[in-house]
Amino acid sequence: MLNVVVLVSGGGTNLQAIIDAVKDGKITNTKLCGVISNKPDAYALIRAEQNGIPGVCVSRKAYETRAEFEDALLAAVDKFNPDLVVLAGFLVILPEKMTEKYSHRIINIHPSLIPSFCGDGYYGLHVHEKVLARGVKVTGATVHFVDAGTDTGPILLQKAVDILPGDTPEVLQRRVMEQAEWIILPKAINAIANNRVKEVGGAFFVEE
Ligand code: GRF
Repeated sequence: MLNVVVLVSGGGTNLQAIIDAVKDGKITNTKLCGVISNKPDAYALIRAEQNGIPGVCVSRKAYETRAEFEDALLAAVDKFNPDLVVLAGFLVILPEKMTEKYSHRIINIHPSLIPSFCGDGYYGLHVHEKVLARGVKVTGATVHFVDAGTDTGPILLQKAVDILPGDTPEVLQRRVMEQAEWIILPKAINAIANNRVKEVGGAFFVEE
């Protein structure tokens, strides 16, 4: 059984996709053991409560220094004793001691086809604004392992989404969520839970 803790900051639609996939049997051999938010008002915490998953808030405002906040965040994660940490719309850069301790056991969903439109400043709606401004015809989402960098870890899954004439950032964000994020994040968790992730030539693949 894979113990999974999910880190969130906002609406939690990716968390909901994971919860639904566990319920539907699309994710097996997995227990969602906790949800941790850095925002007390994150609707993702409501979703956790509605589904009987313990929810915790670790807010930067509650700590004098960033170091104390980072220690509290790591302690909150450790308390759930997770096999896998899932960043689902989590907008905090993880402390290095956490990415080291959970090396290859943290995955993130990013709303673009990495290495395009990622890194510092590329999060949420900003990603889709830049995508539309550049005029690319295809975007999508990426699930990657988290390392010490921002959106730089090894890629596990990607899914492409077409951009349509007249798309606004909001419309495009929703399409990327519906057609990519909410599909590949549960798929990645299920693959990890069932030992179907293989490394070939330094790259990671999910065995179908
Ligand atoms: C989404 O755009 C996701 O790609 C990004 O965070 C945003 C909010 O996700 N990682 P959620 O609705 O809180 O899951």
